[in-house]
Amino acid sequence: MRVGFTKVSMPPHGVLVVPVLDGRKLTATGATIDKRMGGALMRAIRAGHFKGAAGQLLEIVAPSGLKVSRIIAVGLGKPADIGALTLEAAGGSAVAKVLRSGEATIAFVVDPIKGCKVTAGELAARIANGAVLGSYTFDHYRTTLKAEQKPSLKTVNVMVANQAAARKAYAPLAKVAEGVFFTRDLVTQPANIIYPKTLAQEARKLSKLGVKVEVLGRARMEQLGMGALLGVAQGSVREPQMVVMRYDGGKRGQAPLAFVGKGVTFDTGGISIKPAQGMEDMKWDMGGSAVVIGLMRALAGRKAKCNVIGVVGLVENMPDGNAQRPGDVVTSMSGQTIEVINTDAEGRLVLADALWYTQKRFKPKLMIDLATLTGAIIVALGNDQAGMFASDDKLAERLHAAGQGVGELLWRLPMSTDYDKLINSDIADMKNVGERGAGSITAAQFLQRFTNNVPWAHLDIAGVTWSKKPKPTVPKGGTGFGVRLLDEFVAANYEK
Ligand code: BES
Ligand code: MN
Ligand code: ZN
Repeated sequence: MRVGFTKVSMPPHGVLVVPVLDGRKLTATGATIDKRMGGALMRAIRAGHFKGAAGQLLEIVAPSGLKVSRIIAVGLGKPADIGALTLEAAGGSAVAKVLRSGEATIAFVVDPIKGCKVTAGELAARIANGAVLGSYTFDHYRTTLKAEQKPSLKTVNVMVANQAAARKAYAPLAKVAEGVFFTRDLVTQPANIIYPKTLAQEARKLSKLGVKVEVLGRARMEQLGMGALLGVAQGSVREPQMVVMRYDGGKRGQAPLAFVGKGVTFDTGGISIKPAQGMEDMKWDMGGSAVVIGLMRALAGRKAKCNVIGVVGLVENMPDGNAQRPGDVVTSMSGQTIEVINTDAEGRLVLADALWYTQKRFKPKLMIDLATLTGAIIVALGNDQAGMFASDDKLAERLHAAGQGVGELLWRLPMSTDYDKLINSDIADMKNVGERGAGSITAAQFLQRFTNNVPWAHLDIAGVTWSKKPKPTVPKGGTGFGVRLLDEFVAANYEK
């Protein structure tokens, strides 16, 4: 999508979006447009239930007196309640309405709004950002799409008095959206296309942005003693990979922030095989790693002033004559031994070695891992919030706040020594599953045993990585949940 900021004027064609405030109030430019239409805009607004509440849309086709082919009135609600997320949702829902309509351009009117805390420049930037995020499509494999099914919209134009301010506010948002799109693409690609080697190649592309990318293959991981990760990979013909990404935008020698992702490029469950129904979803079991890669792209893209490490453990979990068996005992890089009760609890085995390696090599200030780790988190929280576990209250608070800022919500769950005991094994240091209850918590307790007391948080994103219902800035499919959240977490706390 092309994005431009121009002065407020009447567009010669395409779609025009006019903001409406709560109580059917137009802004100054809206009133001018209404006058040009002989009052038809207000008549249409008054005719139905459209009141200008946040999230409401009203489409008016071919208004006489104007050259544009349609007008969309978009409700913004009460001025005092308007925030970044209201505006992004407005941009996204207007775009969704006309994305495949045959229209090529959409122009948003932005006037200063009395009583609204957001400046006009920021207003414009957020509308543009929402429009872009909502325009995401993935049509790579649809070779028979008819012209009318293809996205027709090419240009988003935001008309605002202070274009310089809008451009300045928009520049970093555009980079973060590129990261989100990269993540969505990787998550949506099927497992015959994205597997450990090809996912590592995708990560390598970040070197163009100044990210140092290093890839460890099986031999190197054997040397390092990563028996937990390698046990999972054992049943697959695809060689496992560990990718280390390093972006240094901060002070030299300053301890980095570390982000670690689960990258199971397909999870059959292994010998503890999953049922056929819905197994195709397990192509996105590399969602955590895709977020880490997309985040590195966002941070490097906007030249964040901070040192960051991204580490992703990439494996495929398959049943095979050589696959690991339930009951096998593996030795992790940390030296701790693990009895593999269930080969479908593989994500924690991958992360065990990835977390240990990360803290050992990089001595990070903190570690945050992301993983589509448990079905139990979906039982607990559904698809609207991700589960958060943390060893540190301050870290948990900062993550929670960042999530609220970008509309990617986190809900913290408890950890304790009592939960930790549930994964003690009779013949090894621990087992990879607990009892029936508290499945997401025992998974987190397992991970914590590999953090070596580095301040750490774990985000279980199993419920939020893929969506079956579209939202204004998140079309259905791969969501990219986590990229914006962690970008905001970094921006708000670690770039001063
Ligand atoms: N990748 C799955 C978790 C998952 C389930 C993600 C559904 C997204 C949607 C994970 O590897 C897994 O299989 N977890 C098991 C753990 C169990 C064997 C203790 C689960 O949740 O059933
Ligand atoms: Mn599994
Ligand atoms: Zn899995």
